[in-house]
Amino acid sequence: MVKVITYGTYDLLHFGHIRLLERAKALGDYLIVGVTSDAYDKTRGKINNQQSLMERIAAVRATGIADEIIVEEYEGQKIDDIRRLGVDIFTVGSDWVGHFDYLNEYCKVVYLPRTEGISSSEIRAEKRKLIIGTIGSENLCKKFIREMRYVNGVEYKECDETLDGVDAVYVASLPQQRYSDVKRALLSGKHVICESPISTKKDQYQELLSLANEKRLILTDAIKTAYSTAYSRLLVVAKSGRIGDIVSVDTVCTSLIDGAGESGADLAKKQNSICAWGPTALLPIFQLLGTQYKSKTIVTKIINDELNYDGFTKIDLLFDNAVASAKIAKAAKAEGELIITGTKGYIYVPAPWWKTDYFEVRFENPTDNKRYFYQLDGEGIRYEIVAFAKAVEKKEGYYYISKDVSEAIVSIIDDYDEKKYIRIS
Ligand code: CTP
Repeated sequence: MVKVITYGTYDLLHFGHIRLLERAKALGDYLIVGVTSDAYDKTRGKINNQQSLMERIAAVRATGIADEIIVEEYEGQKIDDIRRLGVDIFTVGSDWVGHFDYLNEYCKVVYLPRTEGISSSEIRAEKRKLIIGTIGSENLCKKFIREMRYVNGVEYKECDETLDGVDAVYVASLPQQRYSDVKRALLSGKHVICESPISTKKDQYQELLSLANEKRLILTDAIKTAYSTAYSRLLVVAKSGRIGDIVSVDTVCTSLIDGAGESGADLAKKQNSICAWGPTALLPIFQLLGTQYKSKTIVTKIINDELNYDGFTKIDLLFDNAVASAKIAKAAKAEGELIITGTKGYIYVPAPWWKTDYFEVRFENPTDNKRYFYQLDGEGIRYEIVAFAKAVEKKEGYYYISKDVSEAIVSIIDDYDEKKYIRIS
């Protein structure tokens, strides 16, 4: 029996895929199809799949051509599969000519002519595009627009005050300005992805949220860390019980780029430390321990009274079974690490933890330690845009950052705004 193997993503299965599978099968007697996992595709830079692994497998199965379907999960797996399954022929489309010649050592390699004029990318691109405009900080908007280019199905369009011609907006104005910008966008029927905090006042945030719900629009925080693979995995590991019960979550986020020594006029154009870093620093705390803390202390060092501009702030939260601290600064410096303390071990994420591709789970006995690496492209912004576009399509957008978490973040910033803090000089 001649065994043939082929691999692919098979997103939105099309005629080109079916033709390839038929010809692959005709090369032998038994066809094995390797369907790439979402995580593996992400590491290959394929972030745009519209269908999940299970949907893609179901589509391949429905063709009735494959005798066996396996999942491709890691680089180098092809050699393992060929040896393990006793494969005689490896085949893929001619877009890969030369790429898999190294497999000749293990089996015969055949490149089949690719069907002209069709691909998953083209089908995705033909779907109606989500047109996104931007409001606010030139630097943040530039980054967002640059990352949009990596995402199928979205397109940037410059927009004016009227927001005409766009379906959605990315809001990156100063925190005090966001409420009116977001409100204007929602009232014009636009979906919104907004830098966090969405507002500095809890009641304003609630008003925006009900407006979004009423108009069936997506309103979501743009905290890029929430979309990074390493961060999502560390949440899962922390919640799985691997480090026992979580007793403390401690985050540090600092960037000594402005603040101390600057004039009031310059500071007025910038976000204070709590708005710039608070949302990111609080994110893992609320996502791991929930938002129902029993008490909170905010200690701050103000560098401009008139603007209520903090150079350094520490937020301590007390939960039923745990404590948490967030140390943030734009006019002080510390190691930007994240430590999750558990009763059996701890998770350590080195600086800068908010744009990490790596974390470690550590135990008393260092031989039990485990390191995790996940690729991070575009600081997480392009994954954030993919998630936003999907949320708009499915009309459901709170998978990565729940409304409770958004509100808890706004609530702390509101308290700070109301000067419910202890000052150090
Ligand atoms: N294929 C083909 N003809 C096409 C498209 C794909 O023969 N018109 C083959 C590829 O060469 C590969 C297999 O089908 O062997 C799976 O390809 P996949 O990457 O999943 O499909 P694409 O349509 O090329 O996807 P994308 O546009 O996302 O790259």
